[in-house]
Amino acid sequence: MNTNSVTTNPSRTLTGRTALVTGGSRGIGAATALRLAREGADVAVTYVNGKEAAEDVVRAVEALGRRAVALRADSGDAVEAADVVERAAMALGGGPDVLVNNVGVGLLGPLEGLSLADVDRVLAVNVRGVFLTSQAAASRMVAGGRIITVGTCMTQRVPGPGGTLYAMSKSALTGLTKALARELGPRGITANIVHPGPVDTDMNPADGPHADGQAAMTALGRFGTADEVASTVAYLAGATYVTGAEFSVDGGHAA
Ligand SMILES: NC(=O)c1ccc[n+]([C@@H]2O[C@H](COP(=O)([O-])OP(=O)(O)OC[C@H]3O[C@@H](n4cnc5c(N)ncnc54)[C@H](OP(=O)(O)O)[C@@H]3O)[C@@H](O)[C@H]2O)c1
Repeated sequence: MNTNSVTTNPSRTLTGRTALVTGGSRGIGAATALRLAREGADVAVTYVNGKEAAEDVVRAVEALGRRAVALRADSGDAVEAADVVERAAMALGGGPDVLVNNVGVGLLGPLEGLSLADVDRVLAVNVRGVFLTSQAAASRMVAGGRIITVGTCMTQRVPGPGGTLYAMSKSALTGLTKALARELGPRGITANIVHPGPVDTDMNPADGPHADGQAAMTALGRFGTADEVASTVAYLAGATYVTGAEFSVDGGHAA
């Protein structure tokens, strides 16, 4: 990777970079993969069940003239979460220069209804997997590397009951991001976190049963789109002097 161009060229171009987007078969991850490809990056996306959807993303990236690969890797599996970094590097011929920790499970529900298995699963995917993938990516990254993690607006404001496990798991990622920024800064690698508000995806459809209430919690009074989150992730992939920062892309949910 030409690190010189990263530090001297403030444009957003990612030409010549490789990116790994976890959970990239649908929703925010798929939009991010396409956005990074439009900026010039070759992209690996992971999925666990959605093989066909992930292959659709690969074809869409390839139609933009970039290379892409879909890798089945369960972020809840400790070995797979770490190993996928090298698999992506093998497939794309190096990197990753950009890691987007997008994967997450949004398990919401009353405190008393959450089982030990729920706790273990959410922490395995949302926290342990993000840590292990970041650790593996950091070990391969050179100066100019970017780690961008997708949190949630619920780390800043929990507007109602049912969010204990999800908000707890995502809050850990803010601590991880700030600590990564400090640890990797001397190597010229940045780490930032984006907190989406309600975004219209399979996880949280804008026509779902709780959608109106969520939209009303935002200052803009509407759901966001996956592209609106992806554009901030792409900005951070190109930004040279931003690290350890939290970015709300939440329509004013935290306002
Ligand atoms: N949508 C919102 O309102 C919202 C708000 C705040 C934050 N977020 C966060 O934004 C991120 C993306 O959310 P989204 O709404 O785009 O979700 P989504 O529509 O449910 O998509 C989830 C993606 O993650 C993949 N995935 C799920 N579990 C996985 C695992 N164990 N290993 C690997 N991949 C896995 C899915 O792959 P398969 O196709 O194989 O299932 C899919 O590509 C999540 O971290 C979520 O917490 C979302």
